[in-house]
Amino acid sequence: METSGPTLSSHPHRFAVGLTGGIGCGKSTVADLFAARGAAVIDTDQIAHSLTAPHGAAMPALVAEFGPGYATPDGALDRAKMRALVFSDPSARARLEGILHPRIREATAAAALIADGPYTIFVVPLLIESGTWRERVARVLAIDCSEDTQVARVMARNGLSEEQVRAIMAAQVTRTRRLEEADDVILNDAGIDALLPQVERLHRFYLDEAARLAVPPSQRL
Ligand SMILES: Nc1ncnc2c1ncn2[C@@H]1O[C@H](COP(=O)(O)OP(=O)(O)OP(=O)(O)O)[C@@H](O)[C@H]1O
Ligand SMILES: [Mg+2]
Repeated sequence: METSGPTLSSHPHRFAVGLTGGIGCGKSTVADLFAARGAAVIDTDQIAHSLTAPHGAAMPALVAEFGPGYATPDGALDRAKMRALVFSDPSARARLEGILHPRIREATAAAALIADGPYTIFVVPLLIESGTWRERVARVLAIDCSEDTQVARVMARNGLSEEQVRAIMAAQVTRTRRLEEADDVILNDAGIDALLPQVERLHRFYLDEAARLAVPPSQRL
């Protein structure tokens, strides 16, 4: 029998958190701390990246759409070339997203179905921007830091100029808007030590919520 692909709603009773934040705020760092405590972490950025890695699942469709010139010799997406194209041509961005987004959704849903651990954390950098994630997660967790911290971290990590980092930040929702949308916030302006108690507290809260969700509604307090 033909069935449609898995969707996130295939797992309606599993407690799920959407973790977001601006570039360089510490999403990956915080997600690792939750994973170390047993949460199932699904990183949509990593999924997107693997789709366009050498011989990634999206590569045949991308080469068919944009031509072999957009693949590197080892069969990955030529990111610099694609970035230049989509900056100069909005329709190219739409075509790129038309290929990538359904595949990211499908791979994310497939990962969610096999996730173990007491609850799932989806890392979604553009969660607020995307519009469709809010209704798929019980809580939105924002990782927050000052804009100056973001700039300093991304300059150090990626070797970009301050101007380049600020240009990326300008394409994301504002810090204020993200905080308005968030149910939970982790502040990440200080060192890793300052993260641990915040992660511990939320992990315990999410464990409680996940346990509560596992009880049928009629028996909940
Ligand atoms: N509390 C911290 N103290 C010191 N360095 C940190 C801290 N949090 C994050 N960093 C560093 O800052 C950089 C950005 O952190 P991280 O990669 O976790 O952010 P991110 O939000 O996942 O970024 P991106 O949006 O690019 O995926 C990394 O080099 C990381 O090691
Ligand atoms: Mg990251």
